[in-house]
Amino acid sequence: MSLTAFVSLNAKHRTAQPELSFLREYPFMAETIIVQFDAQYGPEIRKIRTSVFMGEQNVPESLDFDGLDPHVVHVLVKDGDQFAGTGRMLGDGHIGRLAVLKEYRGRGVGVAAVRALIREAQRMGMKRVFLGAQMHARGFYQKLGFTEYGSPFMEAGIEHIHMEKIL
Ligand SMILES: CC(C)(COP(=O)(O)OP(=O)(O)OC[C@H]1O[C@@H](n2cnc3c(N)ncnc32)[C@H](O)[C@@H]1OP(=O)(O)O)[C@@H](O)C(=O)NCCC(=O)NCCS
Repeated sequence: MSLTAFVSLNAKHRTAQPELSFLREYPFMAETIIVQFDAQYGPEIRKIRTSVFMGEQNVPESLDFDGLDPHVVHVLVKDGDQFAGTGRMLGDGHIGRLAVLKEYRGRGVGVAAVRALIREAQRMGMKRVFLGAQMHARGFYQKLGFTEYGSPFMEAGIEHIHMEKIL
């Protein structure tokens, strides 16, 4: 597998790193970019979240798009020129809105997105990241080193559990 350099063309990208998935030999190399929810990337982020949270999970649009997006960092994962997944992180290390388009699942996109947000958190000097995991996704976050704490809670009609990772 060849290693392709990924070059940031936009000053707003604070990190842009290739995420090699060679350990699992996933069929493509996911490129992650840290972006803002702006005129360029906002629509791409919205497209993915609308498809996954509204389309698949029936989450009301007003709950997903809570007004915080313009103020926080986001990750987009690319497969060539296609955007495959996204996630966001608040200023206190709260990771959320992780979504991978159905047709891209199981190829390492979700892992690439979370790892990029963790790198960004480390770059910002954070000591801890945390999230509310949908119950079905606990195993996914455990593989990334997150541990559970507290009691399960409901959000958007879906059961969640608190998880954290000390950096
Ligand atoms: C959860 C989600 C982000 C995972 O993304 P993905 O790109 O399919 O995950 P990856 O391919 O990076 O998976 C990496 C590993 O986690 C595992 N995994 C993926 N989804 C999992 C899940 N729901 N539960 C347990 N393990 C999971 C994979 O099997 C893989 O393990 P392996 O390496 O041992 O084979 C994706 O399924 C998704 O968008 N789901 C709908 C939205 C959602 O539930 N978001 C999370 C809100 S907390």
